[in-house]
Amino acid sequence: MGQAAWARDLAERLLAEPLPRRWAHTEGVAARAVSLAPIVGDEADTLTAAAYLHDIGYSPELVDTGFHPLDGARYLRDVAGADESLCRLVAHHSCAVNEATERGLLDVLSSEFAQERPELVEALTYCDMTTGPDGRHLDVHERLAEIHSRYGPDHLVSRSITISTPCILAAVRAVEKALASVAR
Ligand SMILES: [Fe+2]
Repeated sequence: MGQAAWARDLAERLLAEPLPRRWAHTEGVAARAVSLAPIVGDEADTLTAAAYLHDIGYSPELVDTGFHPLDGARYLRDVAGADESLCRLVAHHSCAVNEATERGLLDVLSSEFAQERPELVEALTYCDMTTGPDGRHLDVHERLAEIHSRYGPDHLVSRSITISTPCILAAVRAVEKALASVAR
């Protein structure tokens, strides 16, 4: 069984019943990951697995610090015995360092999980940030606006997304550029 199939089963078990909308988002992000096969080549299975796992940190079964990239990555490392690149991708998905800073968890995050290769990190960020909360495809600007409206202006997540916006837009642009060059 490839990593993606394993990851799908694990994420479905952790998310589908307690958080059906989060699971719908996750399935949409995974579908985006599959669509990036032309630019990620041999890494398509790893990227798809990471897409399935990126938000497992929201599962009530494993919430600990309340910072979902860290909780998810620790679960993958300590309980699920996942491959190191999967743990790193989940820990750092969608420019998580900025929310880690807001939460006072940057040192913890960075000391426990190194960054993955930028192409894979950007690809996962692209998949997450062009998929809405119900799994439908959204333009990145619609997705950013959706996060702001869901959390409200004073929420730590909204503040973190504002700080992360240049990082998110750069990732989306890099992936779009790579897709355009293979389409030629
Ligand atoms: Fe997430």
